[in-house]
Amino acid sequence: MNRNYALEFVRVTEAAALASARLMGRGDEKEADRAAVEAMRLALASIEFDGTVVIGEGERDEAPMLYIGEKVGKGSGTKLDLALDPLEGTTICARGGPNSLSVIAIAEQGGFLHAPDTYMMKIAVGPEAKGAIDLRLSATENLKRVAAAKKVNLDQLTVIILDRPRHADLIAEVRAAGARIWLIGDGDVSAAISTAKPDSGVDVLIGSGGAPEGVIAAAALRCMGGDFQGQLMFRNDEERARAKKMGVTDFERIYGLEDLARGKVMFCATGVTQGPLLDGVRFFKGGATTHSIVMRSETGTIRTIQAEHRFDSKPNYGF
Ligand code: FBP
Repeated sequence: MNRNYALEFVRVTEAAALASARLMGRGDEKEADRAAVEAMRLALASIEFDGTVVIGEGERDEAPMLYIGEKVGKGSGTKLDLALDPLEGTTICARGGPNSLSVIAIAEQGGFLHAPDTYMMKIAVGPEAKGAIDLRLSATENLKRVAAAKKVNLDQLTVIILDRPRHADLIAEVRAAGARIWLIGDGDVSAAISTAKPDSGVDVLIGSGGAPEGVIAAAALRCMGGDFQGQLMFRNDEERARAKKMGVTDFERIYGLEDLARGKVMFCATGVTQGPLLDGVRFFKGGATTHSIVMRSETGTIRTIQAEHRFDSKPNYGF
């Protein structure tokens, strides 16, 4: 995969972040998401590649743009699959909270699991704990293994968990194990990536969240040398039927990093609102600054890109 794509695609997440950041704190999730989706789609159309959305805004009948299977890009050149979320953390952005992002992961054709829009039980860690996680074991056992791999005590581990009633038992178990907990309102992609960022103060992400977000997080952790496991969770037969339609045959399967994001993978994210992973968009007269991360699995290079945008001389992506 041409390495220059990484810099092409970061323009796409920048465009989506700039568009949605304008709507930060306005209490309108749908509008913030719509702005991000439109900007991302327009920006993708300017890139010379033959792209297919594999993880997107939903199935064709429910998403007008960037739906699963939609062809994007100029249509000629390299065939690439995209796993994208123009605004990851719509509620966060609408409330002006921390850690909403615009993200795109890119793989060669067939590189991503076609994940249904169900929940996924997830565990994510950074490079130091690679190989130490196993979703077949209890949370306590996993935390003991991660602490041993990182050569710290359990009470020195920080575990990030989505604050949801469904996680009550998990939270109680982690507390009983003695680890520290960071409860977040939304945004488990940024949380998963934080586990691999040395100065984030986060060691483990555990708990269930969206399966599509799991694939995106796995792509990022492939590039960063971290580790991830996910297991699809189904609430009813309709969700099982949807998963089957997307090619899932083993409903119990535990997916590892390479099952979710295979081969050469790239990952770009731009911060929409402020967070420990990325700064949010900041506006000034006539422009704005963005903060992005760009990574490739092939080299493991992690670039952070601070960009200053001038609105009077930019293509019109709707912001
Ligand atoms: P959206 O950007 O689609 O709102 O997703 C936010 C998010 O918090 C994800 O990061 C997470 O995977 C999922 O929602 C969790 O789902 P739920 O809110 O149903 O617990």
